[in-house]
Amino acid sequence: MHDYRLAAIPGDGIGPEVVEAGLEVLRVCAATDGGFGVAIQAFDWNSENYLLRGHYIPDGGLEQLRTFDAILFGAVGSQRVPDDVSLWGLRLAIVQAFDQYANVRPARLLPGVSSPLDKGDDIDWVIVRENSEGEYAGHGGRAHRGLPIEVGTETAVFTRVGVERIHRFAFELASQRPRRHLTLVTKSNAQRFGMVMWDEIFFEVARDYPAVKVDRELVDAATTRMVLKPDSLDVMVATNLHADILSDLASALSGSLGIGPTANLNPSRQFPSMFEPIHGSAFDITGKGIANPIATFWSVAMMLEHLGEARAAQRLMHAIEETTAAGEHTPDLGGQATTRSVTAAVCRALTG
Ligand code: IPM
Ligand code: MG
Repeated sequence: MHDYRLAAIPGDGIGPEVVEAGLEVLRVCAATDGGFGVAIQAFDWNSENYLLRGHYIPDGGLEQLRTFDAILFGAVGSQRVPDDVSLWGLRLAIVQAFDQYANVRPARLLPGVSSPLDKGDDIDWVIVRENSEGEYAGHGGRAHRGLPIEVGTETAVFTRVGVERIHRFAFELASQRPRRHLTLVTKSNAQRFGMVMWDEIFFEVARDYPAVKVDRELVDAATTRMVLKPDSLDVMVATNLHADILSDLASALSGSLGIGPTANLNPSRQFPSMFEPIHGSAFDITGKGIANPIATFWSVAMMLEHLGEARAAQRLMHAIEETTAAGEHTPDLGGQATTRSVTAAVCRALTG
Protein backbone atom coordinates (compact mmCIF):
# COMPACT_ATOMS: atom_id res chain seq x y z
CA MET A 1 0.00 0.00 0.00
CA HIS A 2 1.32 3.42 -0.90
CA ASP A 3 1.86 5.96 1.89
CA TYR A 4 1.75 9.57 0.76
CA ARG A 5 4.12 11.90 2.59
CA LEU A 6 2.21 15.09 3.25
CA ALA A 7 3.36 18.35 4.79
CA ALA A 8 0.90 20.40 6.85
CA ILE A 9 1.45 24.11 7.44
CA PRO A 10 -1.40 25.27 9.70
CA GLY A 11 -0.12 28.88 9.86
CA ASP A 12 -2.08 31.66 11.55
CA GLY A 13 -5.56 32.51 12.80
CA ILE A 14 -8.10 29.79 12.11
CA GLY A 15 -5.51 27.95 9.98
CA PRO A 16 -4.57 25.48 12.77
CA GLU A 17 -8.26 24.77 13.52
CA VAL A 18 -9.23 23.98 9.95
CA VAL A 19 -6.03 22.09 9.14
CA GLU A 20 -6.49 19.87 12.18
CA ALA A 21 -10.03 19.16 11.00
CA GLY A 22 -8.79 18.57 7.45
CA LEU A 23 -6.16 16.07 8.58
CA GLU A 24 -8.69 14.18 10.66
CA VAL A 25 -11.01 13.86 7.68
CA LEU A 26 -8.07 12.89 5.46
CA ARG A 27 -7.02 10.09 7.84
CA VAL A 28 -10.56 8.73 7.99
CA CYS A 29 -10.82 8.98 4.22
CA ALA A 30 -7.59 7.00 3.77
CA ALA A 31 -8.53 4.39 6.39
CA THR A 32 -11.95 3.78 4.85
CA ASP A 33 -10.56 3.70 1.32
CA GLY A 34 -7.98 1.09 2.16
CA GLY A 35 -5.95 1.72 -0.98
CA PHE A 36 -3.45 4.22 0.41
CA GLY A 37 -2.04 5.65 3.62
CA VAL A 38 -0.88 9.08 4.70
CA ALA A 39 2.18 10.09 6.71
CA ILE A 40 1.83 13.66 7.84
CA GLN A 41 4.51 16.03 9.07
CA ALA A 42 3.49 19.41 10.48
CA PHE A 43 5.58 22.57 10.14
CA ASP A 44 5.26 25.37 12.68
CA TRP A 45 5.95 28.14 10.18
CA ASN A 46 3.68 30.97 11.27
CA SER A 47 3.64 34.61 12.32
CA GLU A 48 4.07 33.95 16.02
CA ASN A 49 7.27 32.04 15.32
CA TYR A 50 8.35 34.66 12.81
CA LEU A 51 8.25 37.22 15.63
CA LEU A 52 10.45 34.94 17.76
CA ARG A 53 12.84 33.68 15.09
CA GLY A 54 12.92 36.43 12.47
CA HIS A 55 11.90 34.14 9.63
CA TYR A 56 8.90 32.13 8.44
CA ILE A 57 10.86 29.49 6.55
CA PRO A 58 14.15 28.39 8.13
CA ASP A 59 17.34 27.76 6.18
CA GLY A 60 16.90 24.54 4.23
CA GLY A 61 13.14 24.59 4.84
CA LEU A 62 12.16 24.70 1.19
CA GLU A 63 14.54 21.84 0.35
CA GLN A 64 12.88 19.80 3.08
CA LEU A 65 9.37 20.74 1.95
CA ARG A 66 10.27 19.80 -1.59
CA THR A 67 10.53 16.12 -0.71
CA PHE A 68 6.81 15.82 0.17
CA ASP A 69 4.08 14.58 -2.16
CA ALA A 70 1.79 17.54 -1.39
CA ILE A 71 1.27 20.37 1.09
CA LEU A 72 -1.85 21.28 3.05
CA PHE A 73 -1.80 24.95 4.05
CA GLY A 74 -4.09 26.77 6.50
CA ALA A 75 -3.74 30.56 6.42
CA VAL A 76 -1.12 33.23 6.92
CA GLY A 77 -1.67 36.73 8.24
CA SER A 78 -1.40 38.28 11.67
CA GLN A 79 -2.30 41.58 13.23
CA ARG A 80 1.29 41.83 14.49
CA VAL A 81 3.12 41.40 11.16
CA PRO A 82 2.54 43.59 8.08
CA ASP A 83 0.48 41.59 5.57
CA ASP A 84 2.99 41.94 2.75
CA VAL A 85 5.74 40.56 5.01
CA SER A 86 3.74 37.50 6.08
CA LEU A 87 2.47 36.79 2.59
CA TRP A 88 5.86 37.05 0.90
CA GLY A 89 7.57 35.33 3.81
CA LEU A 90 5.47 32.18 3.66
CA ARG A 91 2.72 31.59 1.15
CA LEU A 92 4.22 33.33 -1.85
CA ALA A 93 7.69 32.06 -0.96
CA ILE A 94 6.38 28.51 -1.44
CA VAL A 95 4.13 29.22 -4.42
CA GLN A 96 6.96 30.94 -6.29
CA ALA A 97 9.81 28.60 -5.33
CA PHE A 98 7.77 25.54 -6.32
CA ASP A 99 6.49 27.15 -9.52
CA GLN A 100 2.88 26.48 -8.57
CA TYR A 101 1.72 28.51 -11.51
CA ALA A 102 -1.80 27.17 -11.86
CA ASN A 103 -4.20 28.15 -9.12
CA VAL A 104 -7.50 26.35 -9.46
CA ARG A 105 -10.62 27.59 -7.66
CA PRO A 106 -13.89 25.75 -8.18
CA ALA A 107 -17.13 27.37 -7.04
CA ARG A 108 -20.44 25.57 -6.81
CA LEU A 109 -23.49 25.78 -4.59
CA LEU A 110 -23.28 22.77 -2.27
CA PRO A 111 -26.57 21.05 -1.35
CA GLY A 112 -28.41 22.70 1.53
CA VAL A 113 -26.43 25.93 1.23
CA SER A 114 -28.20 29.09 0.15
CA SER A 115 -26.76 31.65 -2.20
CA PRO A 116 -27.39 35.39 -2.07
CA LEU A 117 -28.42 34.92 -5.72
CA ASP A 118 -31.81 33.61 -6.80
CA LYS A 119 -29.98 31.77 -9.54
CA GLY A 120 -27.36 30.39 -7.16
CA ASP A 121 -28.04 26.84 -8.35
CA ASP A 122 -26.57 27.82 -11.70
CA ILE A 123 -23.15 28.42 -10.21
CA ASP A 124 -20.74 25.77 -11.40
CA TRP A 125 -17.49 27.47 -12.22
CA VAL A 126 -13.78 26.90 -12.10
CA ILE A 127 -11.58 29.96 -11.92
CA VAL A 128 -8.07 29.32 -13.20
CA ARG A 129 -5.76 31.90 -11.68
CA GLU A 130 -2.31 32.66 -13.08
CA ASN A 131 -0.26 32.17 -9.94
CA SER A 132 3.35 33.00 -10.75
CA GLU A 133 3.59 36.45 -12.30
CA GLY A 134 1.32 39.27 -13.45
CA GLU A 135 0.42 41.74 -10.74
CA TYR A 136 2.04 39.52 -8.09
CA ALA A 137 5.43 39.39 -9.77
CA GLY A 138 6.95 41.47 -7.00
CA HIS A 139 8.37 44.02 -9.40
CA GLY A 140 8.37 47.59 -8.21
CA GLY A 141 10.07 49.94 -5.88
CA ARG A 142 9.89 52.95 -3.62
CA ALA A 143 12.03 56.05 -3.76
CA HIS A 144 12.22 59.40 -1.99
CA ARG A 145 10.40 57.97 1.01
CA GLY A 146 8.48 60.54 3.01
CA LEU A 147 9.26 63.39 0.64
CA PRO A 148 6.62 65.16 -1.43
CA ILE A 149 8.23 63.63 -4.51
CA GLU A 150 7.91 60.07 -3.12
CA VAL A 151 7.20 57.46 -5.77
CA GLY A 152 6.02 53.85 -5.65
CA THR A 153 5.72 51.52 -8.61
CA GLU A 154 4.07 48.11 -8.86
CA THR A 155 4.72 46.59 -12.23
CA ALA A 156 2.70 43.70 -13.60
CA VAL A 157 4.92 41.29 -15.49
CA PHE A 158 3.60 39.04 -18.25
CA THR A 159 5.88 36.62 -20.06
CA ARG A 160 5.06 34.53 -23.11
CA VAL A 161 5.98 31.36 -21.24
CA GLY A 162 3.88 32.34 -18.21
CA VAL A 163 0.84 33.36 -20.22
CA GLU A 164 0.93 30.46 -22.63
CA ARG A 165 1.22 27.80 -19.94
CA ILE A 166 -1.71 29.08 -17.90
CA HIS A 167 -3.95 29.38 -20.97
CA ARG A 168 -2.99 25.86 -22.03
CA PHE A 169 -3.73 24.59 -18.55
CA ALA A 170 -7.15 26.29 -18.63
CA PHE A 171 -7.96 24.82 -22.05
CA GLU A 172 -7.00 21.33 -20.87
CA LEU A 173 -9.23 21.73 -17.82
CA ALA A 174 -12.14 23.18 -19.80
CA SER A 175 -11.91 20.38 -22.36
CA GLN A 176 -12.51 17.84 -19.57
CA ARG A 177 -15.71 19.48 -18.32
CA PRO A 178 -19.13 18.70 -19.79
CA ARG A 179 -19.79 22.20 -21.08
CA ARG A 180 -16.29 22.72 -22.54
CA HIS A 181 -16.53 26.46 -22.28
CA LEU A 182 -13.65 28.79 -21.43
CA THR A 183 -13.97 32.52 -20.80
CA LEU A 184 -10.93 34.72 -21.15
CA VAL A 185 -11.03 37.43 -18.48
CA THR A 186 -9.06 40.51 -19.43
CA LYS A 187 -8.67 44.28 -19.21
CA SER A 188 -7.04 44.83 -22.56
CA ASN A 189 -9.16 47.88 -23.31
CA ALA A 190 -7.35 49.96 -20.69
CA GLN A 191 -4.08 48.07 -20.37
CA ARG A 192 -2.60 47.90 -23.81
CA PHE A 193 0.63 45.92 -23.49
CA GLY A 194 0.72 42.90 -21.21
CA MET A 195 -3.04 42.47 -21.33
CA VAL A 196 -3.19 42.65 -25.13
CA MET A 197 -0.48 40.00 -25.24
CA TRP A 198 -2.51 37.96 -22.72
CA ASP A 199 -5.44 38.01 -25.15
CA GLU A 200 -3.36 37.28 -28.26
CA ILE A 201 -1.70 34.23 -26.74
CA PHE A 202 -5.09 32.95 -25.54
CA PHE A 203 -6.41 32.89 -29.10
CA GLU A 204 -3.17 31.28 -30.35
CA VAL A 205 -3.58 28.46 -27.82
CA ALA A 206 -7.30 28.21 -28.65
CA ARG A 207 -6.40 26.87 -32.12
CA ASP A 208 -5.16 23.68 -30.44
CA TYR A 209 -8.53 23.15 -28.71
CA PRO A 210 -11.24 23.37 -31.36
CA ALA A 211 -13.70 21.48 -29.12
CA VAL A 212 -13.61 24.19 -26.45
CA LYS A 213 -16.03 27.06 -26.92
CA VAL A 214 -14.40 30.36 -26.01
CA ASP A 215 -15.45 33.89 -25.24
CA ARG A 216 -13.83 36.99 -23.81
CA GLU A 217 -15.00 39.24 -20.99
CA LEU A 218 -13.53 42.38 -19.46
CA VAL A 219 -12.97 41.80 -15.76
CA ASP A 220 -15.44 44.46 -14.63
CA ALA A 221 -18.14 43.03 -16.87
CA ALA A 222 -17.25 39.55 -15.63
CA THR A 223 -18.44 40.51 -12.14
CA THR A 224 -21.87 41.52 -13.40
CA ARG A 225 -22.10 38.40 -15.53
CA MET A 226 -21.31 36.21 -12.51
CA VAL A 227 -24.13 37.88 -10.59
CA LEU A 228 -26.73 38.21 -13.34
CA LYS A 229 -26.07 35.24 -15.65
CA PRO A 230 -24.21 32.62 -13.64
CA ASP A 231 -25.12 29.84 -16.07
CA SER A 232 -23.32 31.62 -18.92
CA LEU A 233 -19.95 30.82 -17.33
CA ASP A 234 -18.04 27.56 -16.91
CA VAL A 235 -14.24 27.89 -16.71
CA MET A 236 -12.65 31.35 -16.49
CA VAL A 237 -8.96 32.09 -16.91
CA ALA A 238 -7.72 35.30 -15.36
CA THR A 239 -4.57 37.03 -14.20
CA ASN A 240 -3.28 36.74 -10.67
CA LEU A 241 -5.05 39.83 -9.32
CA HIS A 242 -8.22 39.61 -11.40
CA ALA A 243 -8.76 36.01 -10.39
CA ASP A 244 -8.03 36.83 -6.75
CA ILE A 245 -10.93 39.29 -6.78
CA LEU A 246 -13.29 37.14 -8.85
CA SER A 247 -12.71 34.12 -6.64
CA ASP A 248 -13.82 35.95 -3.49
CA LEU A 249 -16.97 36.96 -5.34
CA ALA A 250 -17.46 33.38 -6.54
CA SER A 251 -17.08 32.06 -3.01
CA ALA A 252 -19.54 34.56 -1.53
CA LEU A 253 -22.08 33.87 -4.27
CA SER A 254 -21.83 30.17 -3.54
CA GLY A 255 -22.75 30.73 0.08
CA SER A 256 -19.68 31.73 2.08
CA LEU A 257 -15.99 32.44 1.96
CA GLY A 258 -15.78 29.49 4.35
CA ILE A 259 -16.42 27.08 1.48
CA GLY A 260 -14.04 27.96 -1.35
CA PRO A 261 -11.04 25.63 -1.91
CA THR A 262 -7.81 26.21 -3.77
CA ALA A 263 -5.16 24.12 -5.46
CA ASN A 264 -1.79 25.74 -6.16
CA LEU A 265 -0.53 23.34 -8.78
CA ASN A 266 2.88 22.67 -10.21
CA PRO A 267 1.51 20.79 -13.22
CA SER A 268 4.90 19.41 -14.29
CA ARG A 269 5.13 17.73 -10.85
CA GLN A 270 8.73 18.76 -10.50
CA PHE A 271 7.70 20.23 -7.12
CA PRO A 272 4.88 19.43 -4.69
CA SER A 273 1.57 21.26 -5.11
CA MET A 274 -0.14 23.05 -2.25
CA PHE A 275 -3.80 22.96 -1.23
CA GLU A 276 -5.52 25.55 0.96
CA PRO A 277 -8.84 27.14 1.80
CA ILE A 278 -9.40 30.53 0.10
CA HIS A 279 -10.35 32.26 3.33
CA GLY A 280 -7.58 33.84 5.39
CA SER A 281 -6.74 33.92 9.09
CA ALA A 282 -10.15 35.33 10.20
CA PHE A 283 -9.07 36.90 13.52
CA ASP A 284 -12.66 37.69 14.44
CA ILE A 285 -13.48 34.03 14.92
CA THR A 286 -10.06 32.57 15.78
CA GLY A 287 -10.14 30.22 18.74
CA LYS A 288 -13.94 30.12 18.93
CA GLY A 289 -14.24 26.71 17.35
CA ILE A 290 -16.72 27.91 14.74
CA ALA A 291 -14.50 28.18 11.66
CA ASN A 292 -16.06 26.46 8.67
CA PRO A 293 -13.79 23.51 7.79
CA ILE A 294 -15.57 22.80 4.48
CA ALA A 295 -13.13 24.89 2.39
CA THR A 296 -10.27 22.82 3.83
CA PHE A 297 -12.10 19.51 3.28
CA TRP A 298 -12.79 20.46 -0.32
CA SER A 299 -9.09 21.42 -0.67
CA VAL A 300 -8.17 17.98 0.70
CA ALA A 301 -10.43 16.44 -1.95
CA MET A 302 -8.54 18.42 -4.61
CA MET A 303 -5.29 17.15 -3.12
CA LEU A 304 -6.48 13.54 -3.33
CA GLU A 305 -7.53 14.10 -6.92
CA HIS A 306 -4.10 15.52 -7.71
CA LEU A 307 -2.39 12.54 -6.06
CA GLY A 308 -4.36 10.23 -8.31
CA GLU A 309 -6.81 9.05 -5.64
CA ALA A 310 -9.91 9.98 -7.63
CA ARG A 311 -12.15 7.47 -5.85
CA ALA A 312 -11.23 8.83 -2.41
CA ALA A 313 -11.64 12.41 -3.63
CA GLN A 314 -15.13 11.60 -4.86
CA ARG A 315 -16.09 9.87 -1.63
CA LEU A 316 -14.91 12.89 0.32
CA MET A 317 -16.92 15.27 -1.86
CA HIS A 318 -20.01 13.13 -1.33
CA ALA A 319 -19.43 13.15 2.43
CA ILE A 320 -19.10 16.95 2.36
CA GLU A 321 -22.31 17.26 0.35
CA GLU A 322 -24.18 14.91 2.65
CA THR A 323 -23.11 17.06 5.58
CA THR A 324 -24.11 20.40 4.05
CA ALA A 325 -27.38 18.90 2.81
CA ALA A 326 -28.20 17.76 6.37
CA GLY A 327 -28.02 21.38 7.53
CA GLU A 328 -24.81 20.96 9.53
CA HIS A 329 -23.84 24.62 8.99
CA THR A 330 -21.36 26.84 10.83
CA PRO A 331 -22.40 30.46 11.59
CA ASP A 332 -20.97 31.84 8.31
CA LEU A 333 -23.67 29.72 6.62
CA GLY A 334 -26.32 30.89 9.06
CA GLY A 335 -26.19 27.81 11.31
CA GLN A 336 -24.92 26.92 14.76
CA ALA A 337 -22.64 24.02 13.99
CA THR A 338 -19.03 24.04 15.14
CA THR A 339 -15.80 23.07 13.42
CA ARG A 340 -15.89 19.87 15.47
CA SER A 341 -19.49 18.96 14.70
CA VAL A 342 -19.02 19.48 10.95
CA THR A 343 -15.83 17.42 11.05
CA ALA A 344 -17.56 14.64 12.97
CA ALA A 345 -20.45 14.64 10.48
CA VAL A 346 -18.11 14.33 7.50
CA CYS A 347 -16.17 11.52 9.22
CA ARG A 348 -19.47 9.72 9.93
CA ALA A 349 -20.52 10.08 6.31
CA LEU A 350 -17.19 8.60 5.23
CA THR A 351 -17.49 5.65 7.58
CA GLY A 352 -21.20 5.02 7.08
C1 IPM B 1 -5.93 34.51 -1.86
C2 IPM B 1 -5.63 35.53 -0.82
C3 IPM B 1 -4.22 36.03 -0.93
C4 IPM B 1 -3.98 36.57 -2.31
C5 IPM B 1 -3.93 37.07 0.14
C6 IPM B 1 -3.91 36.45 1.51
C7 IPM B 1 -2.72 37.89 -0.14
O1 IPM B 1 -6.52 36.58 -0.91
O2 IPM B 1 -5.27 33.46 -1.88
O3 IPM B 1 -6.82 34.74 -2.66
O4 IPM B 1 -4.37 37.67 -2.65
O5 IPM B 1 -3.38 35.89 -3.10
MG1 MG C 1 -8.03 36.33 -2.33
